[in-house]
Amino acid sequence: MNEDNIKRILITGGKGQLGRALQRALTGNELIIADLPELDITDRPGINTLLAAARPGLVIHCAAYTDVDGCARDPQLAHRVNALGTQNVALACRQTGAAMLHISTNEVFAGDNPAGYAEYAPLNPINPYGHSKALAEHHVRSLVPRHYIVRLAWLFAPGGRNFIHTILRLARQNGQLRVVADEIGNPTYSEDLAQALSQLIQTGQYGTYHLTNSGACSRWAFANEILRQAGLDHVPNTPILSRDFPRPSTPPPYGTLHNNSAAALGITLRPWPAALADFLRHDAQDTKQGS
Ligand SMILES: NC(=O)c1ccc[n+]([C@@H]2O[C@H](COP(=O)([O-])OP(=O)(O)OC[C@H]3O[C@@H](n4cnc5c(N)ncnc54)[C@H](OP(=O)(O)O)[C@@H]3O)[C@@H](O)[C@H]2O)c1
Repeated sequence: MNEDNIKRILITGGKGQLGRALQRALTGNELIIADLPELDITDRPGINTLLAAARPGLVIHCAAYTDVDGCARDPQLAHRVNALGTQNVALACRQTGAAMLHISTNEVFAGDNPAGYAEYAPLNPINPYGHSKALAEHHVRSLVPRHYIVRLAWLFAPGGRNFIHTILRLARQNGQLRVVADEIGNPTYSEDLAQALSQLIQTGQYGTYHLTNSGACSRWAFANEILRQAGLDHVPNTPILSRDFPRPSTPPPYGTLHNNSAAALGITLRPWPAALADFLRHDAQDTKQGS
């Protein structure tokens, strides 16, 4: 990275869940936040003009069409935003000499391997969101010499629409739950991830990484732990199969990511139940302050 502008970081999708966590984690850097409506990554001249003017040393690319069911309903839109939009960002990085940190997903894998996935596993997506994100990775690899690609999964963040809030709302509303037990992944707290990314970008060790909170679980087990920690473990939670909960997208059944590469640099995240406890503590404080 250019030492002159190492602390000048542009974040695409900077108002999203991860983008906001990065704003909190990267204080001390000069941040340029770019998001809709001011910046649309599908607008190639727009992104070129922005990077040419802002001259960041690093672009952290969080912007994406993240509604996986929406991507399944409109694969062309998924391709335009996630694949071609990322290509635009990568081309602009290449032109201006910026390094790029691209955020990817466990959904680039089919999830047919119960052992989970290492960083070097071949990509084999099974849904339109995964296809668009796999192509995005390809563009970054082929266009930007100095790049990090970081895959994550099951992100939860303060203020975001997330699985935890949905489980708590449904438990309180309905007094019972039915949650899929045959989808396995790694819950990931935005604040822990943003801290890990802040460590990673100081290494200059470009490459492909998996960063999630440690440990894996099913959606059902995640919901059980949410209920337990929220004092709602009296609410019955019935495990069901994905086929009993039809949705437009097909999530990878075993989407577990293994962190080998970042761990070799000393970058690991704490176990997900501890991260969940922290999230719930802060969430309760935020609710109290807001009321
Ligand atoms: N959330 C997860 O569980 C998860 C899991 C694995 C990987 N990821 C990846 O992590 C990254 C960040 O996810 P997140 O959860 O923080 O997503 P998010 O909250 O949906 O944030 C994405 C941001 O990108 C913006 N955006 C969408 N289309 C855009 C466009 N054409 N041009 C510019 N900005 C655009 C969105 O704006 P609007 O809100 O106005 O649309 C939003 O502010 C994404 O690359 C995602 O694929 C997420």
